Amino acid sequence: MKLAVVGATGLVGSEILEVLGEHNFPFDELLLVASERSAGKKIAYKGKEYTVIGLKQAVAEKPDVAIFSAGGGTSLEWAPQFSEAGTIVIDNSSAWRMDPSKKLVVPEINGKSLRIDDRIIANPNCSTIQMVLALAPLHEKYGIKRIVVSTYQSVTGTGKDAVDQMMAERSGETAKMVYPYKIDLNVLPHIDVFQENGYTKEEMKMINETKKIFEDDSIQVTATAVRIPVMGGHSEAVNVEFHKDFDLTELRALLSNTPGIIVEDDPANNIYPMPLNAHKKDEVFVGRLRRDETQANTLNMWIVADNLRKGAATNAVQIAEYLLEHSMV
Ligand SMILES: NC(=O)c1ccc[n+]([C@@H]2O[C@H](COP(=O)([O-])OP(=O)(O)OC[C@H]3O[C@@H](n4cnc5c(N)ncnc54)[C@H](OP(=O)(O)O)[C@@H]3O)[C@@H](O)[C@H]2O)c1
Repeated sequence: MKLAVVGATGLVGSEILEVLGEHNFPFDELLLVASERSAGKKIAYKGKEYTVIGLKQAVAEKPDVAIFSAGGGTSLEWAPQFSEAGTIVIDNSSAWRMDPSKKLVVPEINGKSLRIDDRIIANPNCSTIQMVLALAPLHEKYGIKRIVVSTYQSVTGTGKDAVDQMMAERSGETAKMVYPYKIDLNVLPHIDVFQENGYTKEEMKMINETKKIFEDDSIQVTATAVRIPVMGGHSEAVNVEFHKDFDLTELRALLSNTPGIIVEDDPANNIYPMPLNAHKKDEVFVGRLRRDETQANTLNMWIVADNLRKGAATNAVQIAEYLLEHSMV
C-alpha cells in the first residue's frame, strides 16, 4: 500500500496523519504532498522524517490511494491525473461531491454503494457528515420529512489561516484577514460564498448533499450556516420532522446503539455535547433531545463533532479502510 496525503501541511492533512496513526492504518510507503511552496519541507511522523513533495512528483509515484485535502481547484485539476495513473482518490473538497458519476460517502450510511471502479470518491461537507450520521438511524425508523438546521461552526473549518486570524485578534496583533470581519468576539452568518438565492454555498451543500447521501430528493432541508470563534468542532441545532411518530425513550436508545454516535443528554446534570469535549474525537455527539411541542412528529436535537475528525479526516480514512477491507485496493 503506497498512500499519499495531498494537503499534508494543512489542518485536515495533519489530522489525517493523526487518524492514520491512531487507527494503525497499514501502509508500506507514505507520500506527503503539498503545494510547490512547501516542497522540500520536513514533517516528522511516527519517528520518521518525511520530505514534502509536489503534485507532479506524487503522480509519478503512482500511489494506490491518495487522500486529498488541498482545496477544490487542486482536486479538479489533479484528481483525474492521479486516477488515470491508477490511484484511488478520496477527496475532501467540494469539487466532486455533486457530480452524479461520483459517490458521496459516509461509510456507516452508504459505504455499501462503493464499487471497485470508483476511482474518485467524494467526502461530504463537514457540517453535512455529522448531521446525516446522527439522522441516519432516525431516517430509517421514522422517515425524515423536513430538516431545519442552524450551525455554529469552528474556525478550523476554514483552515490554518483562519485559526491564525482568530489567535492574532485574541492577542491584539494585526491579523491577516481571512474573513471579511473580525471573528474573535464575533459571529458571522456567512460561510463560503453567497449564492443568487440568498443562501451561502455552505448552506446549499448541506441541503443538496443530505439528499444525495440519503438518496431521497423528497427530504426538505433548509439551513443557516454560522461561523463562531471556537476551535474544537462544529455544533448544530437541528429541528427534524418525521413521517412517523416516535417515542423519545426508544429514539434515544436507537441513537445510543448506533456505532459512531455518543448520546450526551442529561440536562439535570448539565450534560450535553460541546466542541470542547468533541475535540480530537472520532464520534458524533448528540444531546438536547426533546419534542418540538409546536408540531407533530418533530424533534429538536443538538449535534456536535470535531469537523477536522469525522467531518474530514476520520471519514476519509474510514473510506480507505472500507476499500481495504473489501479488497477494492
Ligand atoms: N477544515 C475543515 O474542517 C474541512 C472539512 C472538510 C473538508 N475540508 C476541505 O479540505 C481542504 C483543506 O482544508 P484545510 O482546512 O486543511 O485547509 P488549510 O489548512 O488551509 O490547508 C490547505 C492545504 O492544501 C495545500 N494546498 C493549497 N494549494 C495547493 C496547491 N495548489 N497544490 C497542492 N497543495 C495545495 C496546502 O499546502 P501549502 O501548505 O503548501 O500551502 C495545505 O497543505 C479544503 O478543500 C477544504 O474545503 C476542510
